[in-house]
Amino acid sequence: MNLNLQHWRVELDAEGVASAILDKAGETANSLSVAVMGELGKILDAFEKQPPKALIFRSGKEAGFIAGADIQEFTQLDTAEKGRALVERGWTLFNRLAAVNYPTLAIIRGHCLGGGLELALACRYLLAVDEPATKMGLPEVMLGIFPGWGGMLRLPQRVGPTAAMDMMLTGKTIDAKRAKRMGLADECVPPRVMDAAARQLVLSGQPRRALPVMQRLLNGPLKGVVASGARKQVAKKARPEHYPAPYAIIDIWAKHNGNALASPAIIDRIISSPTARNLVRVFFLQERLKGFGKASDFKAQRVHVIGAGVMGGDIAAWCALRGMTVTLQDQSLERMGPALQRASKLFARRLRDPLKARAAFDRLIPDVNGDGVAHADVVIEAIFENVAAKHALFKVIEPRMKPGAILASNTSSLKLEDLRIALKRPERLVGIHFFNPVAMMPLVEVVVAQGADDSVVQAACAFVRQIDKLPLPVRSEPGFLVNAVLAPYMLAAMRAVDEGISPETVDEAMLAFGMPMGPIELIDTVGLDIAMAAGQQLAGGAEAPRCLLARVQQGQLGKKSGQGFYRWAEGKAQKAAPGGVPPGLAARLAKPLIDRTEQLVADGVVADAELADAGVIFGTGFAPFTGGPLNFRQAR
Ligand code: NAI
Repeated sequence: MNLNLQHWRVELDAEGVASAILDKAGETANSLSVAVMGELGKILDAFEKQPPKALIFRSGKEAGFIAGADIQEFTQLDTAEKGRALVERGWTLFNRLAAVNYPTLAIIRGHCLGGGLELALACRYLLAVDEPATKMGLPEVMLGIFPGWGGMLRLPQRVGPTAAMDMMLTGKTIDAKRAKRMGLADECVPPRVMDAAARQLVLSGQPRRALPVMQRLLNGPLKGVVASGARKQVAKKARPEHYPAPYAIIDIWAKHNGNALASPAIIDRIISSPTARNLVRVFFLQERLKGFGKASDFKAQRVHVIGAGVMGGDIAAWCALRGMTVTLQDQSLERMGPALQRASKLFARRLRDPLKARAAFDRLIPDVNGDGVAHADVVIEAIFENVAAKHALFKVIEPRMKPGAILASNTSSLKLEDLRIALKRPERLVGIHFFNPVAMMPLVEVVVAQGADDSVVQAACAFVRQIDKLPLPVRSEPGFLVNAVLAPYMLAAMRAVDEGISPETVDEAMLAFGMPMGPIELIDTVGLDIAMAAGQQLAGGAEAPRCLLARVQQGQLGKKSGQGFYRWAEGKAQKAAPGGVPPGLAARLAKPLIDRTEQLVADGVVADAELADAGVIFGTGFAPFTGGPLNFRQAR
């Protein structure tokens, strides 16, 4: 069929079954740009005149099915009309697809996100291909917007409103097997049979699985129950003034049957909100960080971690979770016990499959003698924060390492320039600075010492990407970026406590500002002794806050000792009611953090303001809806 298309290929087999293959020109992944959607319209026009026996959608890319709408186009929505037009275009087109009188099917292999899943939902059948890369989800909420191309209408119809709300309000993705179990996919098949299975299913005439009665009630007369439950859930995590989109999703589903066009005011409010603009910015900042991993084709298979403490143990577990073979070294097997226990919990929680968890555990090999050094592509040192100890260790391991392997230190506070004097090839030492807790924190600072070998730095960034973290190159200066900006912020918070403001009130001020955790609770979590040491190094000689000194002297070290600024029970800080927050408190506490971020950009510790915003968001959780500390200041 010749429709003169740039992005789609349409094929018709001898039996009249058509395939529409999306292979977006000039890109490695498919996204639904204006042009791609326009061409889909043409395909539907052609088939309206001459309907095929069936139509199968598939991807022409290795990477996956469809990554979503074209996010670059979101940045051009500068008027309310353009925002509405964008929603209208997808809503109408996918309604048209849903209404065709020939059977349709989408083969989902690899990622199928946002608009991609909305396209698949508009087909009669959805065939999921069971392979690790297959992931389905509606992550629009993470960009501060809503799935307005039929997702809010069709996902609840297909999987029931509770499961649909959970997916739309968290943005989380599900794999092929899970999609089949919850009724999102009609079939889940291995790649080798997908074509035959797709043909058979699309021609089967088989009715769609009907929703169970209870789910139909919840999607109809009992909508209000689901909506109020969902609002309560969302309220625990996001305030409407910071994150309006999840509330809009609930309203559009409950009051307008998933049709955003029925309430143009909501569209205007969401699309023109600073939150959406800033979250889209954060998305691109994240892409920029990912880009650092692309400058080298370094690929690690084996990792050796030395020091099985808080950090080393969790770094080793994380690398094993991401598929690497990891040897973990400490002074004795007993010292590794707690790390191995934590690893086992991590694998069970993240992999949810005992066989896969077992395989990950098998990849994590205790190695008291350090035999793994000779085979490792990356050696990460995470022993005590002590220069002499690190020197002694480097002297032993450097001669045993493979040529071309990376030697990295996880040090938080020592200068790489001081550490590397023990090495024969000092230019090859790099910092790979993880944050605690390793599994939760997306950022890893890649610390670049004076005169470091560029190729090693690039390889270190590639390794960080390989384990699914975001690399940020920073200069080897005290505190790098993240700890350097946190120190004056924590100091300001403790000075406020010294002034007589309660820890609860200080924390509430910053939670209301949009931080994921208050600064005082953060200090309790990090440990008061660690905060004290960091303060001494990073506070430029400022006197330690009285509230901190007193507690440290009494051995009240925070979460780990059960008592710090708060009493801790079952892993939770026991807080009293915060009381009223004095006006201006949040701004006063945030100011030193923002000032320091500006200073570090000026000093070249981080290359530019965008990267500083990215680092502070992904390294501290700084309110993402603000677009980062410097973006926030500029917007004031
Ligand atoms: P930790 O005290 O929990 O663990 C250190 C481990 O290293 C201990 O198990 C110890 O037995 C082992 N060790 C010491 N010397 C050794 C040697 N010569 N050979 C083999 N094992 C040896 O310390 P933590 O907190 O895990 O810190 C480790 C490194 O990570 C330090 O450089 C620290 O600055 C850095 N770091 C710490 C963070 C934290 O939040 N705790 C965050 C980021 C970096």
